[in-house]
Amino acid sequence: MIRPILKYGDSILHGKARIVDVITPDIDRLIEDMVETMYAAPGVGLAATQVGVPLRIFVVDISVGRDPNGLITLVNPEFVERDGVQLEEEGCLSVPGFNATVMRPMRVIVKGLDRHGDPQQYEGSGLLARAFQHEMDHLDGSLFVDRLRGIKRDLIVRKIQKLTRAGKW
Ligand code: NI
Repeated sequence: MIRPILKYGDSILHGKARIVDVITPDIDRLIEDMVETMYAAPGVGLAATQVGVPLRIFVVDISVGRDPNGLITLVNPEFVERDGVQLEEEGCLSVPGFNATVMRPMRVIVKGLDRHGDPQQYEGSGLLARAFQHEMDHLDGSLFVDRLRGIKRDLIVRKIQKLTRAGKW
């Protein structure tokens, strides 16, 4: 089932997500819905907070479904390593219509549980590293807009406020 994606300004998006204690059938269903929602959008990643569930779960597929082995699901993800720097244009399904250049690590190793509760570890560089960091940020209540500074950030926030006031956000 495709779930509605919350937009910048919704309190769940801006709060810290909780650790998952047990992968219940409800959580398995949530993960299935997150995958469907991500592909339908389409997007390369989705965090549970974006569908209104404040739990530490994200899905990532930088191939957007083209690579049958491209889907990564992580429950209770943690960074193992992060190094290097990349500067690339980035967007977010919760901030539709806006992009900005964001500084991210070039290489990331993350570990967590898959949807069966088995431990998994993934290494990513470039876009995959960016996606891991972007989704991890979501679980801590941070969106790419929050990573920007000064005028760039203010400009996007002001435009969102204007759209919100006009009932178009
Ligand atoms: Ni996002």
